[in-house]
Amino acid sequence: MKRIIVFLLSLVMLTSLLVGCSSNKSDTADNGSKDNTADNTGDTAADAKVVKVGVTIYKFDDNFMTLYRQELEKYFKEELSNDEVTYEVTVVDGKNDQAEQTNQIQTFIADKYDVIVANLVQSSAASTVINMCKDADIPVVFINREPTTEDLDLWDKVAYVGADARQSGTMQGEIVYDLPNNGDVNGDGKVSYVMVMGDPENVDAQYRTEFSVKALTDKGVAVEELVKQRGDWDQAKGQEITAAALTQFGNGIDVVFCNNDAMALGAHQAIQAAGRTVGTDIYLVGVDALDEVVSYVESGEITGTVLNDHVGQAKTAADVAVKAVNGETLEKNYTVDYVKITK
Ligand code: BGC
Repeated sequence: MKRIIVFLLSLVMLTSLLVGCSSNKSDTADNGSKDNTADNTGDTAADAKVVKVGVTIYKFDDNFMTLYRQELEKYFKEELSNDEVTYEVTVVDGKNDQAEQTNQIQTFIADKYDVIVANLVQSSAASTVINMCKDADIPVVFINREPTTEDLDLWDKVAYVGADARQSGTMQGEIVYDLPNNGDVNGDGKVSYVMVMGDPENVDAQYRTEFSVKALTDKGVAVEELVKQRGDWDQAKGQEITAAALTQFGNGIDVVFCNNDAMALGAHQAIQAAGRTVGTDIYLVGVDALDEVVSYVESGEITGTVLNDHVGQAKTAADVAVKAVNGETLEKNYTVDYVKITK
C-alpha cells in the first residue's frame, strides 16, 4: 500500500514538473514574438498590447513645447501604460520646417503607427496632414497650434487639444488694468505699450495680441501702440525688440506685452540693461508661467504671467489619442483653461 502511495505521489510530482516546463516554454515563445495587433490581450506587461504613438513637435528648441513633450512622454509611459497595453512613444523634432515635418508624418504612416500627435510647424498644413492620415486610417490629434474648423471637419478621427488664446490675452490685459493707474505708470493719460508677438501665423500670437489690448480698451482705458513686432516666441528676439523700443521710446513706454514667457525673459534682460525697474517705472507681462518667470513674478521683476497649462494639455492630448485608438467618438476641440499669475 505504502509503495503504491509513494508511486502515485511521484507520478503527480513528475506530471506537475512537465506541465510547468511546457507552460514556461510557451511563455517564452509568446514573449519572443511581440504582437502589435489589437487582439493580443495578454495579462502580463510582457504580453501587453503595444500601441505606437508618433509625436512631432514643431521644433525642440522652444521652452514651452519642451516642457509639454516631456510631460506627454512621461504620462504615456508612467500613467497610461499598464499590464495590458504599452504605449511606445516616438517624439521627433520638426525643426521648424514644414516639409521635414510632413515627411516625418509620412514615415509614421509607413511604419503603421496607431495614432499621430502633431504640433504643426504651420497650421495651414493641417488639411494635407489630415488627408494623409485619413487615407491610412490613422487618427491624428493636433496640439498647441489650432487648425481651422473647416480642417477639423475633414474627418471624424481628428481632434485639437489646446487652450483658448483669447482667454490668455484677456488675462494679460486684466493684469495691467488691475495695476495702479491701470498701468499708466508715466501718468500721461494713456497706456503706451510695446507688443512682442509670437509667430503671427499662429492663432495664439494673433489672439494674445488682440485680446490683451482689448481687455483694456473694453474697460475704457486709453492705449497707444508704440511697437508691434514679431519675436517668433524666441527669447533672443524678445530681448532685441524690447532693447530697440527702450532706446527709441525710453520713459514713453508703460507696458511691455509679450505673447509668451520666453520673449518676456528676453524683455526682462533688456529692461534691466536699460536701467529701468519693473513695478516702479515700467510693467512687463508674459504667458506660459515658466518656472523662471514665476520666480521673477514672486520677486516683482516681472509684473505677471498666465499659466499655459502644459501638464493639463499633455494629459488631455494623450487621453484623446487613446480614445482615438480605441475607436471612441472624438470631439473636435478639447480646451484647457489658462490661469492668471501675479504676485
Ligand atoms: C506658447 C509659446 C510657444 C508656442 C509654440 C504657445 O502656446 O505660449 O511659448 O512658443 O505655443 O507654438
